[in-house]
Amino acid sequence: MNPKKIFIASFVVWIVFSCTTEESMQSLIAYRLDRSAEHYRLMAGSLLSQPGELPRSFYGDKLVTSNSSWWCSGFMPGVLWYLYQYTNDSTFLESARIYTSRIEKEQYNRGTHDLGFMLYCSFGNGYRLTGDTAYRSILLTGAESLITRYHPVTGCIKSWDSNAKWQFPVIIDNMMNLEFLLWASKESGDSKFRDICISHSDKTIKNHFRPDYSSYHVVSYDTVSGRPEKKNTAQGYSDESAWSRGQAWGFYGYTMMYRKTKIPAYLEQAKGIAGFILNHPNLPPDKIPYWDFNAPDIPNAKRDASAGAIIASALIELSAYVDKELAAKCLETAERQIRTLSSSEYFAEKGTNGNFILKHSVGSLVGNSEVDVPHPYADYYYIEALLRYRDLKFK
Ligand code: GLY
Repeated sequence: MNPKKIFIASFVVWIVFSCTTEESMQSLIAYRLDRSAEHYRLMAGSLLSQPGELPRSFYGDKLVTSNSSWWCSGFMPGVLWYLYQYTNDSTFLESARIYTSRIEKEQYNRGTHDLGFMLYCSFGNGYRLTGDTAYRSILLTGAESLITRYHPVTGCIKSWDSNAKWQFPVIIDNMMNLEFLLWASKESGDSKFRDICISHSDKTIKNHFRPDYSSYHVVSYDTVSGRPEKKNTAQGYSDESAWSRGQAWGFYGYTMMYRKTKIPAYLEQAKGIAGFILNHPNLPPDKIPYWDFNAPDIPNAKRDASAGAIIASALIELSAYVDKELAAKCLETAERQIRTLSSSEYFAEKGTNGNFILKHSVGSLVGNSEVDVPHPYADYYYIEALLRYRDLKFK
């Protein structure tokens, strides 16, 4: 063959190869972690002159902030700690410390179940990475505040304070705050925190889940009988639907409970929820869930990037606890989720999106609040999923 023909043939082979092969996960993850670090450097710089403020979302071309009492206050500091872990760069350490300190007073907050999100993602990661004993003390005070919401008759931690509709509302999201309490038990040597986590998890298996392993969002308990009085939703399409982020919280929660306790029932629960998600006919081929598995306007319904990121992170963890066949299925889906979230459809250009990493999360569609916008929890679990995948496969 003459050189010209060889050149053309090689070019055609290269084009076909480039179009049919995907970038390796190893290089995709490294590239996206580096780009994420750029976003959060800008994010951290942008709020330095606004003491006490933390990033909440971005809409109407504006970065929207909150104070520390909002349930998501810990996620941005948490992302900074993860990026410090990744880069070992002291500027991330410095920023993580600054934004973590903005949440300190929440250690005394007894008005929410979300202290795990708020304190464990921020101070918890900070303590893990630095061993700072001041962080440990703040965390243990926060854990004492959180367990004031435990009610022995219901056997659960109350999520929201009582209102006209619910006596003792417990939301599936609450499973996520138990990791903080299990840490507190181990760190303090006091088993009361662990006992509460086990009671709450057992009651949640009994009362939140349907036979197909989907879960209700809100179960309200009768505080005299200890039995459920109502099963509803607050953010899902309907009481009987499967709100996607709720499924994600429950899935992550039981996978984590198994890691921390090794109680087989929690692994069974996590596997059951994984089966519901992985085999659901409404999970799209790119594996980013619609905001509710039963949204009436599928396939035109909004996607929820945050649910995709939380599920990806939990699938990577679960893959380490199950047989080869299920592990491969978990990783295949997590990989697809990471690839989709890393594409330009979801991953924002530098300097846009209020410097958040991911676009297209849904806060509360039924409440018409923060729909199809960035959310710090989507970024947090996306970065966690990247680090978990990297540690599982490439370390
Ligand atoms: N935990 C509240 C939410 O997921 O929207």
